[in-house]
Amino acid sequence: MTEPTQPSPPQIDPEFIPRHIALVMDGNGRWAQERGLPRTEGHRRGESVLMDCVDACIALGGVEWLSAYAFSTENWRRSHSEVRFLMGFSRDVLRRHRDELHEKNVRIVWAGRRPRLWRSVLRELEAAEELTRANTGVTLAMCINYGGRAELVDACRALAADAAEGRIRPDEVTEQTLTRYLYRPDMPDVDLFLRPSGEKRTSNFLLWQSAYAEMVYQDTLFPDFTRQHMYDAVLEYAKRDRRFGGAVDKFAK
Ligand code: FPP
Repeated sequence: MTEPTQPSPPQIDPEFIPRHIALVMDGNGRWAQERGLPRTEGHRRGESVLMDCVDACIALGGVEWLSAYAFSTENWRRSHSEVRFLMGFSRDVLRRHRDELHEKNVRIVWAGRRPRLWRSVLRELEAAEELTRANTGVTLAMCINYGGRAELVDACRALAADAAEGRIRPDEVTEQTLTRYLYRPDMPDVDLFLRPSGEKRTSNFLLWQSAYAEMVYQDTLFPDFTRQHMYDAVLEYAKRDRRFGGAVDKFAK
């Protein structure tokens, strides 16, 4: 079967391409239920959509990180069967796509909390990280058993332990210090926070890193999300005026 023709990426000044896109893969359950299907069918559809998002980031050029929210620390509250499905599914998605992502020079990394995460998922994440460690293209951060608050709590715990051991003085702690204790100290700040599905909230995703992110919410449910939606979001981002707190007074003398 030949691949459908994909839209070309928009021509955008490289300065206005987001370096880090955070993606909330939301709306799978609703998409399935609207069709009288089990929620898991929606997740299955999301698999190829995620791969398409990676391709879109590669085609755009200049996107260095794509962080995908695949399972939150709060998602353990879902039904036992959905949790079981999602754990197995994350593991299988990594296994099914790591070679093709490797060929595309994608570096796969994991961000998340270790306790509770299935050992088989961890093993698959470690194998994917190991295989793609030296790749220099887009970094795909799979955020599995990830929560922004959990990440900050874990960072504070490690920092407090170092302080108690005398390895760091409390008055030396800066924003840069705290960043070193996060799950991925090498993760840049989020530029574009993208959530399809119509919901307008962060749901505890990359809280620290998104302090100055531009939020783009779209109505499309994730299984219907296409490269064009990603391009539209980046175009919208490129139009935003980012000030990082430093307002300019056009009329000041
Ligand atoms: C946050 O919304 C959304 C997520 C944590 C994404 C979940 C994504 C999947 C289950 C699909 C995974 C797909 C692949 C291809 C691995 P929420 O529903 O946790 O938060 P809310 O209750 O605030 O809406």
